[in-house]
Amino acid sequence: MAIKFNKDTKVFTLDTNNTSYLFFVNEDNTLEHLYYGNKLNSYNLNYLHKFINGGWSSHYLDKVTLEEKEFKDYYSESALYELANSCTYDKRESPLLIKNKDNSFYNNFRYLKHKIYKYEGNPSIYPHSLHKLDNEEVLEIELYDELNDLTVILKYIVFPFENVISRSLKIKNGKLPNTIHKAYSFSLDLMNKEYSYLHFYGDWSYERHLEKSKISYGKQYISSFTGRSGHEENPSLILFNDSTSESNGECFGFSLVYSGNFKISLERNKFDSIRVMGGINEECFIKPLEAFEEFECPEVILTYSNQGFNALSHNFHDFIREHIITSKFVHEERPILLNSWEGFYFDFDTEKVIDYITKSKNIDNELFVLDDGWFINRNDDLNGLGDWEIDTNKVDLNKVIEACHKNNLKFGLWFEPEMINHKTKLFKEHRDYVLGRKDINLVLSRHQLVLDMSNDEVIDYLFNKISKILNTYDIDYVKWDHNRYLSEIYSEVNKGISEGYLYHLVTLGTYKLFYKLTHSFPNILFEGCASGGGRFDLGMLYYTPQIWCSDETDPIQRTFIQYGTSYIYPLSTIGAHVSKNPITSYKTKAEIALFGTYGFEFNPSKITLEDTLEIKEINEVFHKFHKDAIVDGDLYRLSNPFESNYFSMMSVSKNKEKAVVLLLNYKKETPRYRFLKLYGLNENYNYLLSNGEVVSGEHLMNVGINITRWLNEFDTEFLTLIKVD
Ligand code: DGJ
Repeated sequence: MAIKFNKDTKVFTLDTNNTSYLFFVNEDNTLEHLYYGNKLNSYNLNYLHKFINGGWSSHYLDKVTLEEKEFKDYYSESALYELANSCTYDKRESPLLIKNKDNSFYNNFRYLKHKIYKYEGNPSIYPHSLHKLDNEEVLEIELYDELNDLTVILKYIVFPFENVISRSLKIKNGKLPNTIHKAYSFSLDLMNKEYSYLHFYGDWSYERHLEKSKISYGKQYISSFTGRSGHEENPSLILFNDSTSESNGECFGFSLVYSGNFKISLERNKFDSIRVMGGINEECFIKPLEAFEEFECPEVILTYSNQGFNALSHNFHDFIREHIITSKFVHEERPILLNSWEGFYFDFDTEKVIDYITKSKNIDNELFVLDDGWFINRNDDLNGLGDWEIDTNKVDLNKVIEACHKNNLKFGLWFEPEMINHKTKLFKEHRDYVLGRKDINLVLSRHQLVLDMSNDEVIDYLFNKISKILNTYDIDYVKWDHNRYLSEIYSEVNKGISEGYLYHLVTLGTYKLFYKLTHSFPNILFEGCASGGGRFDLGMLYYTPQIWCSDETDPIQRTFIQYGTSYIYPLSTIGAHVSKNPITSYKTKAEIALFGTYGFEFNPSKITLEDTLEIKEINEVFHKFHKDAIVDGDLYRLSNPFESNYFSMMSVSKNKEKAVVLLLNYKKETPRYRFLKLYGLNENYNYLLSNGEVVSGEHLMNVGINITRWLNEFDTEFLTLIKVD
């Protein structure tokens, strides 16, 4: 049993294969956190349940005896809570802020009851909470705040094989009017062991760069208030300590299953405990609750490893592939994709596209994607979004698809469903479909405004328009883009609500459209995108098994972006293409793109025969290795480009029979002894390397690959390994 409850001690134990998570119901029926870390087969409650009595202990009035001697001081601000209450003696920030009928924010949630069951379906408003489950155990704990007639349900699902616990939180109102000002999905109090945190910050064309920071005293947080998870921060965070490396040491991972405004905060208090919590960003968020109304927060994924970041990433990657991505393509070899965007942008017609398709056979791609520019009034980015009618004067899709099929290619199309240009027919007819008050000066970004995804009529409109095209033409792939922040938001159908809550409804509406389209067209491969990688999160991966990871197609810059992205997200989800950028050879560009979905983004008629041959060489590797070693394999990061002169990673098939290794150096280096130790192989196997050597797993993992030679700028060492008898 993964979840246990000890009736005597009232301790809950949530066990995965390698981790334990413990908390208990204390004498006052408050949930206190005890432990999260390496698996504990036994424990001593007296040793686990520690609190600090600094001489200023706090305790409840009704616990005071005449002599004031026998009090319990677990209500001190040092206690570790599973759900902290607001406006109490605990002075750390609380995960919930609910304004009560009398305008107070005092909440005191006490344990009422719990149930442990096997997963029974999807009672959630979040489509992505419908995990692919295989008898996982669920714990639901009901906490009640009597004064305000409010219930909170904490839900935990335990995934033993992936060492993951998912948490979520639901607020159920009773008869009294209460108003949510903040509702996070989780909070977790840890005893500090000098943790630092790793987060993924960035910008357009600069996504998911790594930053490691000490957790300082006080509060720090990462967040988004752009209406999407964003380029600026990813809704994920890792805690680690000084001795943690890729292959050793403790680390905790947190990732929200959410694509809207989020916040993950850290607070280190004077007792050196760390409170980590997160969920929907509370900025401008007010949600009044009607009698008996419920509000459900998005899920968060928690995982722990005591074997470093690589093992933590394995937990995330396995979990995402098995339980988040629902697309049938998750374990499939994806077609080699050629996207038109960087080849001809908006400048094309039927003839040019067909010529492009015909020429592309030189590079053996298997899918051609017509990016932005195929619909009416779309010859630049000033107009066209929202009407979704094919510009038949510009491009004849029937002929294009026919050319694809003649050349044995699949066909894909670009959409940006959530956006509208103000010069369109839709804007003239339905100003009410647009987010933003009529009486203010709205901000255009990339010349576009945003549709009101909280309005079901808008969702129906988009579903009908898009599905008409998907039904009429033979379309195998859809790229779903999103090219601006949301700002000044206001809804004609949801008047009188706070912006923060409206952002949330817009996110849920977007999920609704994703759900309808991906479930109506299960054979279409959907790829997410938001000005490159501005919406790369677990909420999106539920619908799209891959996401375009950045508009930065300079291969050297991409190594940093792909490296950062790989901490949480499997390589099979990281949209990566070979571009025309001349900074490296085509071979090097292809080797880098191979550690992602793999594809091209250049005009095939403009490359030389030599370049074509280099690409074909890596295409061959793609067909032999990508599915086993990369799509389904285990990733090992070998050298961190943010901290060294090398980018290096390898990916090994689950059965350890195949692997792909890449090392790229940045600055030129003179010859010196250099050995790259490999990981994850079977020490008893012999491997044939693509350089012709046969080397044992034992040797490769203990001595490594010998790269004692000159390394010029952007040289690579690229090897495939295959088991031989
Ligand atoms: C932004 C995307 O990231 C690009 O790949 C491309 O699809 C453009 N949008 C098209 O407008």
